[in-house]
Parts: sequence; structure tokens; C-alpha cells
Amino acid sequence: MDLFTDEALADPYPLFDELRALGPVVELTQNGMYAFPRYREVREASGNWKVFSSAKGVFMNDQINSALEGITLCSDPPEHTQMRRVLGRPMRPEKLKELVPQIEAEAEKIVERLVREGTFDAATDLAEHLPLTVVADMVGLGDTGRARMLEWASATFDVQGPMNQRTVAALPKVDDMVAFALNEAKPGTLQPTGWAAQLYAAASLGDLPVEKCPFMMVDYIAPSLDTTIFAISSAIYLFARNPEQWDILRSDPSLIPHAVNEALRLESPVQRFTRLLTEDYEVEGYTLPAGSRVVLLYGAANRDGRKYPDPARFDIRRKPSDHLAFGRGEHVCVGMNLARIEMSALLRSLLPRVERFDLIESQWELNNTLRGLGTLKVRVN
Ligand code: HEM
Repeated sequence: MDLFTDEALADPYPLFDELRALGPVVELTQNGMYAFPRYREVREASGNWKVFSSAKGVFMNDQINSALEGITLCSDPPEHTQMRRVLGRPMRPEKLKELVPQIEAEAEKIVERLVREGTFDAATDLAEHLPLTVVADMVGLGDTGRARMLEWASATFDVQGPMNQRTVAALPKVDDMVAFALNEAKPGTLQPTGWAAQLYAAASLGDLPVEKCPFMMVDYIAPSLDTTIFAISSAIYLFARNPEQWDILRSDPSLIPHAVNEALRLESPVQRFTRLLTEDYEVEGYTLPAGSRVVLLYGAANRDGRKYPDPARFDIRRKPSDHLAFGRGEHVCVGMNLARIEMSALLRSLLPRVERFDLIESQWELNNTLRGLGTLKVRVN
């Protein structure tokens, strides 16, 4: 079974159904790894870093696991604890609270303009606006870095797959990003108040070894844009396909947080990360040997009927706050509240202005790790 063909990336769900039906753990012989396709095992593994280690990388090929060695995502406690404490500073609740008025004002501005135009591409015109105007500025890479951030981000997720053609094509861009982080992104060229510069400020106070800073910058560059862009357009796509759910949300906007969770559950932007087993691990009588790599299939786990009845149905009253789209445990997404604020602000601005999203054209982007739409043309009225 190849999870990385164009067909599988465009519609992974029939394969996920098959995998979940096969058992709680499935050997992906093509990849030389095991996969957890069901909710329970993915949740348990995410919460057990001692056995399911991230320190030797969380990706599907060795080359990228060693190229990105040293980023927060690819570390275990106690090193992880120290890095994450610094990495998460700009996304602490009180810091995010300061950002809310700016995010809401930008959401109003873009939604007002697009609704006036009537027809637009929600995957680009709408979904890219907040990450590119607000978040890219906050990361603060300076002009050269900022202009290339989106391209680097998408490449960084492509190379996380197995060593297929998509990975090979994206590798030079990731080399470029790593070279930029190592050689160019230094205090002085970075925006002084940005997140990237704050890493160096933390290092100068002794909170971090300074050589960690370029790698931790990758923790900001890679996941802060595309993940959220895809989450936003998938939510619009789901409402366009399920207009009765939009009606429910319009009549009760307090359901916005649940709508956000339900969209993330159903179209999880990050489809998988991997872990390396530090010891033998038993799943329902089958022993996975220490040293095995295990793929945590978030996208499949979030559609497990054992956990969510009628799992393929978009139902904003389901309230699935325990979905795994942001992971869980030590590595749970550091930017999840920021992503939620962006998604909620856009939905809140759209609610009073849009009665219906008519779907004109949609196309899934083919990325080795991310799930999302490259095109989502809609007409609103
Ligand atoms: C809807 C949008 C997003 C989704 C679906 C998402 C998904 C995830 C997932 C599944 C993980 C868990 C990784 C693991 O367990 O190995 C993660 C971690 C992470 N995310 Fe996000 N993410 C999103 C937005 C963001 C944003 C906006 C940022 C902003 C900087 C961000 C930064 C990070 C970082 C730094 C980590 C690593 C945390 C650690 O290793 O402790 N993410 N994300």
C-alpha cells in the first residue's frame, strides 16, 4: 500500500479505512515502518515520549531526519522542555490576547473586500491573508526571509515523506532555508521584536545554547503558515459542501470553537508524524521491536468510527475537542491557539455577511505531509 501516490494524497480516506480495518497496527512494507491508523494507539503513542521518541526525527526518511536534527519538534525531554519553554513564549495566552484585535481587524478587512467581490479563491485570497499579513510579520525574518517563507514551509512538509520524487524536488529549498537560518538570519538582519530575534535574546540571557537558535527558527518557519492556511480553506470547503451546517452556525455563533475543531478533525492539515521506539512495544499481542519507526496517522485516527460515530460526517454539534489534529502530550502544537484565533476570526467575520458558499472549483494540493486545498473557488451570497 502506497500512501504517497497522487491518488492517495488527493483522497487518502479509502486507504485509511482499509488500514483501520486491518488492525491497530499495520506494517507498511514499502516504507519499512509500522503505522497506527486508529485513534486509541495514536493518542497513546503521542502521550508516551519515553517509548515513542522524537529525538531521532519525526519524519519518514533518514536524510531529512538528520538535516533537521536539533529542532524542537525532533527532541525529547529534558532538552525538549528547555527549548519549548522559550519557543512557546510568544504564544502564551497573554501574548496572544494582545494580538486578537489586530487579527480580528485584518479578518474583517479581507472578508469585507472578498464578499463585495462575490467570487474568490478561498484557498488563496481568503486563507492566506492572516498567516501572510500577521503571522509572517510576527516571525520577523526580515525582507528576504519573509518573501520565501511560504515556499520554504511547503517544501519542509514535502521532504518529510519517504524519499520519493516530491521529496527529492523539495530538498534544495529546504537546504536553502537551513542555510538562511544558519548564515543570514542573525540579530541585526532579523526584525528586532520578532519571534526569531527573541530566540537570540533568550540565548543571550542563558535560557538556551545560542547554537540552538537557527534550528529553532525552523520550528517557527515551517509550521506557522501552510498548516493554518489549509485549515481555513478546508473549513470553508466543508461549509460549502454542507450548507445546513453553515445555517446552524449562523443561528448559533457560540458553536464557532466546535466548528473549528470539527473541520480540523475531518481534514487534518498535518496528516502524520513518526516516532522511534526506544523499547519493544506490544499492541494487542503483536510486539513491535525497539528501534522500529512508527507512523502516527492523525488523519486516519481522527476518522476512526470507534471514537467518532459516522466519522466522515461534518457535524459541528459533535464537539470533538479531543481530536488529534494538533497532536497531544509533550509535543502538542505550540501554535494551536494562534491557529484557532485566526480560524475563528474569519468565521466570525463571514457569518453575518455570507448566506451560502457556492462551490465553483476545488483541487487538493499534493504534499507529502499536509492535507489542504490549492484551489477553492467559491461564489458567496
Ligand atoms: C491548524 C494549524 C496547525 C496544525 C494542524 C498543527 C499541527 C501540529 C501537530 C500535529 C503537532 C504535533 C507534533 C508532534 O507530536 O510530533 C504540532 C507541533 C508544533 N506546531 Fe503546529 N500546527 C498548526 C499550527 C501551528 C502554528 C500556527 C504554529 C506557529 C508557530 C505551529 C508550531 C508548532 C510547533 C513549533 C510544534 C512543535 C512543538 C513541540 O515539538 O513541542 N503550529 N503542530
